[in-house]
Amino acid sequence: MVRGQDLIPSGSGTVYGVGVGPGDPELITLKALKRIQAARAVAYPVQKGDSVARAIVAGYLRPGQDEIPIDAPMTGGDAAAPGYDAAVVTIAGYLARGEDVAVLCEGDPLFYGSFIYLLLRLAGRHRVEVVPGVSSLTACAAALALPLVGRDQRLAVMPASGSDRDLRQGFAFADGIALVKVGRHFRRVRALIEALGLGDRAYYVERASQPVQRVLPLAAVDPATATYFAIILVFKETPS
Ligand SMILES: C[S@@+](CC[C@H](N)C(=O)[O-])C[C@H]1O[C@@H](n2cnc3c(N)ncnc32)[C@H](O)[C@@H]1O
Repeated sequence: MVRGQDLIPSGSGTVYGVGVGPGDPELITLKALKRIQAARAVAYPVQKGDSVARAIVAGYLRPGQDEIPIDAPMTGGDAAAPGYDAAVVTIAGYLARGEDVAVLCEGDPLFYGSFIYLLLRLAGRHRVEVVPGVSSLTACAAALALPLVGRDQRLAVMPASGSDRDLRQGFAFADGIALVKVGRHFRRVRALIEALGLGDRAYYVERASQPVQRVLPLAAVDPATATYFAIILVFKETPS
């Protein structure tokens, strides 16, 4: 892929895609903190008036720092396009004046991150740097204190929205399996995991690292309480 950063006029500002971790404000990196505090403006996705990413770093923002809320419906795709298009115009204004913008992203920016939609619009035209963050995947394994994968084991990460056929392929291939974006798919994916005989090797982790974190064996979850902000982890084999 052509990045084209060398063609960008010197004196332009930089967009930092900053991972702010899974929720615990102590789980942001030193580099993320420095980039956020040095930026002229911070941008962040907003859903139904709330921004998870901004809430994580609320205590670290400088007074007087400009804020650019991005209207980013959870559905993504076409519905989210106008919000990202508008944000790019605003961000480009800062960059043209030589000012930096930090785009906050929950977890890691490039792991199913909202920053991906901005990156696709900005790359090649503006200077972009990505600051990796602690992802929800590793935060969920940490909450369980169970090895995600070790030695020569294979890991499959799949959205719970995938078809049963696709999910079965992932389960057949991998030793450690993570299903993200659980929410309304909970009943179906739990039934699938049980049908594969893996029900007693599966866990549900909700809002890892946050004060409201829930960690449960999959079988113990009331489906009515299952949320989008959860990952199901399945450990077919414990590494020996
Ligand atoms: C749009 S993706 C964002 C992932 C994020 N960029 C990351 O690196 O963790 C959202 C999904 O990540 C998972 N997720 C995000 N934060 C989580 C948390 N604190 N605990 C458990 N799962 C989380 C959920 O599966 C959720 O549906």
